[in-house]
Amino acid sequence: MNLLEEKLSKYDAPQQIQAAGLYPYFRVIESDQDTEVVINGQKVLMFGSNAYLGLTNHPKVKEAAIAATKKYGTGMAGSRFLNGTLDIHLELEKKLANFVGKDDAIIYSTGFQVNLGVVSCLTGREDYILWDEYDHASIIEGHRLSFSQKLKFRHNDMESLEKQLKKCEPDKVKLIVVDGVFSMEGDIANLPEIVRLARQYGANIMVDEAHGLGVLGRQGRGATDSFGLLPEVDLIMGTFSKSLASIGGFIAGSDPVINYLRHNSRSYIFSASNTPAATAAASAAFDIMVSEPERIEHLWKLTHYALERFRAMGCEIGHTSTPIIPIYIRDNEKTFWVTTELFNQGIFLNPVVSPAVADADTLIRFSLMATHTFEQLDFALGKIEKTLRKAGVLNVEPAK
Ligand SMILES: Cc1ncc(COP(=O)(O)O)c(C=O)c1O
Repeated sequence: MNLLEEKLSKYDAPQQIQAAGLYPYFRVIESDQDTEVVINGQKVLMFGSNAYLGLTNHPKVKEAAIAATKKYGTGMAGSRFLNGTLDIHLELEKKLANFVGKDDAIIYSTGFQVNLGVVSCLTGREDYILWDEYDHASIIEGHRLSFSQKLKFRHNDMESLEKQLKKCEPDKVKLIVVDGVFSMEGDIANLPEIVRLARQYGANIMVDEAHGLGVLGRQGRGATDSFGLLPEVDLIMGTFSKSLASIGGFIAGSDPVINYLRHNSRSYIFSASNTPAATAAASAAFDIMVSEPERIEHLWKLTHYALERFRAMGCEIGHTSTPIIPIYIRDNEKTFWVTTELFNQGIFLNPVVSPAVADADTLIRFSLMATHTFEQLDFALGKIEKTLRKAGVLNVEPAK
């Protein structure tokens, strides 16, 4: 064994979970991505997807991807900057910028690359990036690459944000970056207060709408729009990998900011551009999101029902008010056990364990899609309640 292998062979946490028969990762799906998937030849109900509008299998979305592949080919063989810009990239950028009421937008190949390439690039050494401790990993990677001073504030805690703003020099740029909907917890950023503080301290705001797009706001414009605050937020980020049933992401903002990113953002310039199929699929999904509001309405009917049922069964679900519902287990091993037990009963859920969160904060992430039926939801909730009761994590006795 060489030195590298020797060092890394000490990392055996996954093997230990595998040995216990509780390994819940890299489960191989053999079917299309829908509310029901096939794994190991068995049908499993999917409550771990981010396709909130359930469009990954929509005929129009698939047809758009196929037509774009036929017309433009399978890959872009270069970056947007040089040989990788198509007319459909520009059309989608225009649609997205208009949708969120900004001058302009640019598309990256993944949402992760958006945050990485935007947050790392906008502010200088003398400036500040203020970030919520529960921000997505891609935002954290972005500010790690920045030379700016980074100031973390406690999750959705506006006193903590203000304390950090007070530390900043008034004449330097201060960029506040938050998830609109927090990806694991499902709670919504306190944007009215963030906007008020940003005004008071002369800060700028970037909101990651990965989980707000297609879920909240007018026609799915996102968490920011649900508060009527799109004009107050400088930068709106979104991904195509969730409601828009594809892969890719965008950032929308004012002309000077987008112009700067277009010519300086390294994950945009030094990475091949979004494939024709992914771009066309996202564009078709966007059109369906805008023209079929009944999808979002159904998603919310399911969400309100599920939130009520989880609370009634005595399940700890934190501050969520969205289709992302964290089931707090607060114990690593139990979290794996509940996930595996439910998987064996035909329910797919995602465990969130340490080191992603502290052992005392482990949870199982339950998420809804507009294509779920109430029958599927009832079936899952029944199994979940029984299993959580067996695990001893419910604090309400069963109804007689
Ligand atoms: C809040 C948030 N931002 C950004 C991303 C990255 O998006 P993508 O999967 O499109 O790379 C994710 C995805 O997990 C996310 O949850």
